[in-house]
Amino acid sequence: MNTLFFGQFIIRLDRVDSTNNYTSEYLRQNVMPEGAVVVAKQQFAGKGQRGNSWISETGKNLTCSFYVKPKFISPSEQFQLNKWVSCAIVQTIEELGFDSKIKWPNDIYVHDQKIAGILIENSIGNQFNHSVIGIGLNVNQQVFEDLKNPTSLAKLSREEIDVNRVLEVLCTKLEQGYLILKNKLSAFDDQYLSNLYRKEEWASYKDSINEFQGMITGVDQTGKLVLVKEGIEKKYDFKEIEFL
Ligand code: BTN
Repeated sequence: MNTLFFGQFIIRLDRVDSTNNYTSEYLRQNVMPEGAVVVAKQQFAGKGQRGNSWISETGKNLTCSFYVKPKFISPSEQFQLNKWVSCAIVQTIEELGFDSKIKWPNDIYVHDQKIAGILIENSIGNQFNHSVIGIGLNVNQQVFEDLKNPTSLAKLSREEIDVNRVLEVLCTKLEQGYLILKNKLSAFDDQYLSNLYRKEEWASYKDSINEFQGMITGVDQTGKLVLVKEGIEKKYDFKEIEFL
């Protein structure tokens, strides 16, 4: 591993409920250095966003969780972590040969297909305590059941890819980004926006009122999606809008 701390402390598991759960549990009883990662070949209760499950074929993909303790972030700034992680995944996929986009708030897409998902679980008291950053990146899976429009690196490249190599690239990109973020919290604002899926394109959405044609213009400081609906700029929280 060509890094200073991301991926230097590594726990490899054959089977676990969820690498996010394992990391949080582990932290209750042990210490981990920043950048530690838990990787599993198989998750039998992998977690996705909004209470969804994350299903991934055993041994085919990257399912991992990183531990960080970003003391430089206040609770109200936590979306900056999401920007850093999203950009690091886009950079990883780019290094492996493909252009991807960030589908707000937690997905990475290649064209119109999902290739990766992010589940960040923060432990916050008065201050930011720590963060468990779960990443599921489809690497070698070819067949997906019951999932809306997924893809994998191997489907795109038509060849098998070493999952460990993907992890190494990811660790490098996360580490480079983390050091940059530490120096400047807004460092990924522009990169995030320029890679935002459907930015400045008219497309179909559904909010609590109706289905409509809208145009994403950006994301605000708290991580809300900013979108033009019927000529007016509106802000949406995670569960308030659906991409159609
Ligand atoms: C989503 O797209 O809804 C987020 C998916 C996040 C999946 C990863 S896989 C590794 C880590 N452990 C989990 O249980 N979930 C995340």
